[in-house]
Amino acid sequence: MSATIIDGKAFAATVRAKVGKHVAHLKAEHGITPGLAVVLVGEDPASEVYVRNKGKQTLEVGMVSFEHKLDASTSQEDLLALIAQLNADPSVHGILCQLPVPDHIDSNTILNAIDPAKDVDGFHILNVGLLGTGQKSMVPCTPLGCLMMLREHHGSLSGLDAVVVGRSNIVGKPMAQLLLGDSCTVTIAHSRTKDLAEVCRRADIVVAAVGRPRMVQGDWIKPGATVIDVGINRVQHPDDPAKMKLVGDVDFASCVEVAGAITPVPGGVGPMTIACLLANTVTACCRANGVAEPEGLTA
Ligand code: GUN
Repeated sequence: MSATIIDGKAFAATVRAKVGKHVAHLKAEHGITPGLAVVLVGEDPASEVYVRNKGKQTLEVGMVSFEHKLDASTSQEDLLALIAQLNADPSVHGILCQLPVPDHIDSNTILNAIDPAKDVDGFHILNVGLLGTGQKSMVPCTPLGCLMMLREHHGSLSGLDAVVVGRSNIVGKPMAQLLLGDSCTVTIAHSRTKDLAEVCRRADIVVAAVGRPRMVQGDWIKPGATVIDVGINRVQHPDDPAKMKLVGDVDFASCVEVAGAITPVPGGVGPMTIACLLANTVTACCRANGVAEPEGLTA
């Protein structure tokens, strides 16, 4: 039996359409246009691609995009000054500083300098604490996208056994909090977990976010379970060593035969991340202006 493929690309298009509709409503009824500022320090090629896509999609849903590309040698002080300026700018409702930042900059200092109300990444310590205590917060985009796909596929997640493989601040930890919030029984596993295969085999939901190409194998999966693959790894193309190929943290070929549902790479979680960034920006804009938030665009 072959699993249902969860089409993240199509689902992300529905999220963007919902965001676009709400942006139009904010403009027409309240005279407000949501604005998203993205800050990129240095020339990491993968980050440049993400930032370009973010800018393009921000405009497509009718929002204003502010892009700040800074030289890799930019001082932490200058970066903090830019963030202070964006915090004070009423036309900016969301601020994102693309990670990683160069080594001479402390990422936590930068993330915690962003106004928590404009923290569309959900990485500020205040938002981390609000999420951890089940209070209204800004929710990190990638885990939010995974949660939306899981809710769409399962309806209620209550009582399901979920295993999150990976303990990063960006994905693993907030993902576990969100699943707990939806009443799953949650295990956070990682590269040092004893008998990781056996731990995964107990799960109704496996979220793989470890950054190791094709680590999760088909015989780690309980028949019928849902597998969410957050990994984006570049590996050598099997047919042409000169080319690269994108693969996830899940061995798709073996898992698709066992799982009940699975996200592909590319076309699964990836497109949902930017869609959720746009959703968070519209949510932040509504909260800043005391206007009703759109339904179904946050946790
Ligand atoms: N780098 C990789 N993923 C992310 C993300 O979700 N947000 C930010 N700010 N940087 C990233």
